[in-house]
Amino acid sequence: MNKNRISIVILAAGKGSRMKSSKAKVLHTICGREMLYYIIKASREISDDITVVIAHQKDAVQKAVSSYFDDINFVTQDDINFPGTGGAMKNVSVKNEKVLVLNGDMPLICAEALDGFLHNDSDIVMSIFDLPDPDGYGRVIIENGEVKKIVEQKDASKVELSVTTVNAGIYAFTKEVLDKYIPLLSNDNAQKEYYLTDVISMARADGLSVSPLLVDEEHFRGVNSKKDLSVAEEIMQDRIKTKWMEAGVRMQLPSTIYIEEGVTFEGECIVENGCRITGSSKIINSHIKAHSVIEDSIVKNSDVGPLAHLRPASELEDTHVGNFVEVKKSTLKGVKAGHLSYIGDATVDEGTNIGAGVITCNYDGIKKYQTIIGKNVFVGSDSQLVAPVTIEDDVMIAAGTTVTSGKVESGSLAISRTKLRTIKDFYYKFFKK
Ligand code: UD1
Ligand code: CA
Repeated sequence: MNKNRISIVILAAGKGSRMKSSKAKVLHTICGREMLYYIIKASREISDDITVVIAHQKDAVQKAVSSYFDDINFVTQDDINFPGTGGAMKNVSVKNEKVLVLNGDMPLICAEALDGFLHNDSDIVMSIFDLPDPDGYGRVIIENGEVKKIVEQKDASKVELSVTTVNAGIYAFTKEVLDKYIPLLSNDNAQKEYYLTDVISMARADGLSVSPLLVDEEHFRGVNSKKDLSVAEEIMQDRIKTKWMEAGVRMQLPSTIYIEEGVTFEGECIVENGCRITGSSKIINSHIKAHSVIEDSIVKNSDVGPLAHLRPASELEDTHVGNFVEVKKSTLKGVKAGHLSYIGDATVDEGTNIGAGVITCNYDGIKKYQTIIGKNVFVGSDSQLVAPVTIEDDVMIAAGTTVTSGKVESGSLAISRTKLRTIKDFYYKFFKK
């Protein structure tokens, strides 16, 4: 595909009041990334000239986009004087003769789905689909087989409201059409907004050609509410998991698994039911057992769970982490931590065993401190390691010990216990049996 033939404009300046949120609509995330990210990702595959129109929370929107992409143009809409999707196009200037305009709330779009707009020589190509429940969408009024106009829900008559053919919100225009009609738009409508969709009726009245392109709902549905957001997320989840299963990842009951867009897998991996893997986690040749949560972590040649929690910046290699173990910001290489532990701000080296109930006490209420555990250390059950602390190689920590010394030297045993007392027949006396 020749990327240089078409310019793309993405409208992302609106508030999105139907989201009932203080956050701009396009910044709401599905599968861990902002809606806008997905639209730009698809756009990049077909164009090098991408403009994002911003206004509401413009700094936050620009920052989010720039964290993923570095060659995007930003244009600010004068949303006070020229609100609406047509107002958004006022200050836009593009490089190419053909311009694809996308609403910023269509995260399910992909490059292949946009292909139909590129091979059509009409003055305007617009996307339409049929919906049994067209609520919220602009209705497409067709006369004698030709698009006549688009009527927004709030402006529609009773008869128009019953039309089930809707405007999906993606258009290809020639630059000439935009240059001519955007300045002519008026805001004489129920919302007092400048509607981009009015370009279509104006162009038709002048005898220009408008091609309706029938598109599928799965790729072209818009997100206006939190309910729509969840529906879109489910569709995106399905795509992400399908992609990884096709790449060789084994998933059990995939409908119960949640995997974010930034996650990657390599080699032979198994993910059991109920797992949640987020952020930029990397899973390499590993087995993630049921109901584990992995956030922004690396897991290599290891097994995790069931019911384990790896919090951000954890790195496991050749390691076994079992049930009810929580790891945070720690590196474990060649380690076994089978049950019920908290390992935070720690590095643990080869051959070391972490017994059940071991806790790194990394926080004193003000600051966090490091725990360093060497090779072949045996940390007995129910021990507390009060950080900052270094346990050198070949050390035994007796069960129930609280290590407060800051350092345990190689070859030693650390033990802190009160002497056990047993009081004969106490039970019988106490319960008067
Ligand atoms: C729009 C269409 C409608 C179509 C629907 C498809 C218009 C007038 N209506 O309606 O026909 O069926 O999309 O999903 O275009 N935006 C701006 N600046 C603004 C207002 C909106 O940039 O002043 C952006 C929003 O951030 C959003 C996009 O434009 O990404 C669409 O805006 P939205 O308010 O959701 O339009 P709809 O009412 O859904
Ligand atoms: Ca919309």
